[in-house]
Amino acid sequence: MYLGKVIALVLGLWLTAAAPAWAQESCVLIQGAMDMEVRTLVEQLEEPQTVVLAGWTYWQGHIGSQKVVVSQTKVGTTNAAAATLLGIQRFSPTVIVNQGTAGGYPAWLHKGDLIIGETITNAGAVNVARREAGQGIEVREWTVRDEFGPVRWQSDARLVRLAEVLSKDYTQGRVHKGTIFSSDRWSRELDYIAYWQKKENALGEEMEAAASAQIAAAYQIPYLCVRVVSNNEAAREPWEPVEAERLASGCQEYIFKLVAALQNR
Ligand code: 5AD
Repeated sequence: MYLGKVIALVLGLWLTAAAPAWAQESCVLIQGAMDMEVRTLVEQLEEPQTVVLAGWTYWQGHIGSQKVVVSQTKVGTTNAAAATLLGIQRFSPTVIVNQGTAGGYPAWLHKGDLIIGETITNAGAVNVARREAGQGIEVREWTVRDEFGPVRWQSDARLVRLAEVLSKDYTQGRVHKGTIFSSDRWSRELDYIAYWQKKENALGEEMEAAASAQIAAAYQIPYLCVRVVSNNEAAREPWEPVEAERLASGCQEYIFKLVAALQNR
């Protein structure tokens, strides 16, 4: 009897001490920059609780049994970096998914198509070749530079594979895998676009993915970027606000299915 109690006590203490190691709950941080890039997800969360950290908003909830935090990063690299860091510190996510709209680069990429960002390149990290006064500006002499530290980031290979598997149910367009060019720039010069498409294999551009990928990498958190093409200069498909909202919503539906599939893995 006495021995039984001792064994139960020791076992209980051992389980309590061991709990953090084996019971660490998975949590997916899903990011979107603009209101329309998070609204559909927030609407689908079960029992969402709003948390505001220094002006950035997070919604805590569940997709099925999967713990989820939706984060509105706001637009641009600095916002994305801050929102990612604050989100990591507060919610300890085990996966980070960055999603939303993007501009397509190749003319064969159309509005509604998805880009799975296997690689995300910091498009602001360029070296500019010297030109004398009056010699003008020549983008085609620019190169992405990494001598001051890494500027290219990879989505987690397993998450990329899952994104590809789920692409069979995506109905807004086709799904492509490749490089996303990321900086605060919105580009409309076809020569600029064609140059980076060729030089860096870029499929499209947006403004948050490289910043959040860099912070995720610093914490070794598996990361995935998926973007829906909402405009394409080369294809003469301009940004239309109402349409962009519909496409962004469809992208979130796809991400919702992806996160729901994660809990079974
Ligand atoms: N260039 C840059 N950012 C774009 N976005 C959509 N299309 C483009 C584009 N062609 C996204 C950015 C940002 C917002 C303005 O829309 O990621 O969040």
